Order: sequence, then structure tokens, then C-alpha cells
Amino acid sequence: MTQGRFITLEGGEGAGKSTQLRALATALRDKNIEVVETREPGGSEGAEAIRSLLLTGGADRWSARAEALLFAAARADHVEKTIRPAMERGAWVLSDRFLDSSRAYQGQGALSDDDILTLHRIGSQNFLPDRTFILTLPEGEAERRAHARDGDAADRIGGRSSDFHAQVAQAFNRFVDREHERVRRVDASGEADVVTGRLLAALDDLLP
Ligand code: TMP
Repeated sequence: MTQGRFITLEGGEGAGKSTQLRALATALRDKNIEVVETREPGGSEGAEAIRSLLLTGGADRWSARAEALLFAAARADHVEKTIRPAMERGAWVLSDRFLDSSRAYQGQGALSDDDILTLHRIGSQNFLPDRTFILTLPEGEAERRAHARDGDAADRIGGRSSDFHAQVAQAFNRFVDREHERVRRVDASGEADVVTGRLLAALDDLLP
């Protein structure tokens, strides 16, 4: 049995996380690893129900505090019902977003990074990924891609101002600088298979 691992892909809107998650899953399955693909908010029945509460409705549907608590509650269910059981049987779990999205999106206004980490301790006992990749694109490129994909139909959070999204990008960069062992920046520009190759290379030390 392989050792279970938990890998997360993070970054702003339009960085290609979902495409890369699928490609990385295929590459790992080719190495005979069982892979579970999941996403946040969501990834378990309860967390998917919370997802629709979080991503639909008006901009002021939730206060900043209520929003952060809902993300933490969804994550607690996701960790308990999906992620931990898969890892216990030796699978690799790949998640499109996880805790670092809450730190970047919810931890820069009414709440601090410490507040978000406290919610994570309460909800998920500080459970952390083995490795986190921040997919980055040159300024403007991610916005163009997200707009090409979503048009004007971005969700409650994706549709926030470009200033907000610039702060999110800065927060992700801080995590790379301060938590280098876990959090790595990966250039998401160029052909998709080249980007997948970069991700695989940055996982080399964890592969069986
Ligand atoms: P996505 O499915 O496009 O990644 O959309 C999820 C949205 O939710 C995206 O705008 C990022 C946001 N989000 C947070 O604000 N905090 C979180 O903890 C997570 C997981 C996502």
C-alpha cells in the first residue's frame, strides 16, 4: 500500500487549477497510485450543500465572519468524510482549493490569518496538506482566462473587485515565502502538459 498523501492546488480565479488537477490525477494513476479528486468548497455531501449557500446570492448575503465560519464548517465535513478516509486506505487526495484559499480570501478584512487558522484548528484539528501548489500567471492573464470562462457570471466571491483579487494573490505569495516546505509556487503559463510536468517534478520527493 502506498502512503496516503494530501495535495492541494491553489491560486486566483482562472489559473487553470481544475484542468491541472485532472491532468495530475491521470499522471499519478499511471504510476499505479489510487487518486481521489476533490474540491472546495465542497467534496462531501454536507460541504457541497454549504457550497451553494456560499457561492450563490447577493454580495451581502453573508457577513465576513459568517462566511469564514461556513467555509470552515464545509472543510471540517470534507476532511472527516472524504479526505481522511481516502488517505487511510493509502490514496492520494488532490483538492482544488483548501485552507489557504480561506486564508487568502477571508483572512484579509474583518478577520486575520490567525483567526482563520483558529477556525481551522476547531473545525479540522489543524489538518494540513503534504504539499500545496500556488498556480501563478502574469498579471492580467488570469483575469482574461476567468472572464473567457465565466463571462459576467462569476460567483459571489469570484465577482469581487480586481483590488480584492490582487490582495488575494499577494496573500498566496506570502504563504510561499513563509511556508516554503509545504507551499510552492508553480508557473501556470504555457502549454497545459508543460505545467503538469512542473507539478510532477515538484512532487518528486513524495512519490513512492
Ligand atoms: P471555484 O470553484 O471557482 O474555485 O470557486 C470557489 C470560490 O470560492 C472562489 O472565488 C474562491 C472562493 N473561496 C473562498 O473564498 N474561500 C475558501 O476557503 C475557498 C475554498 C474558496
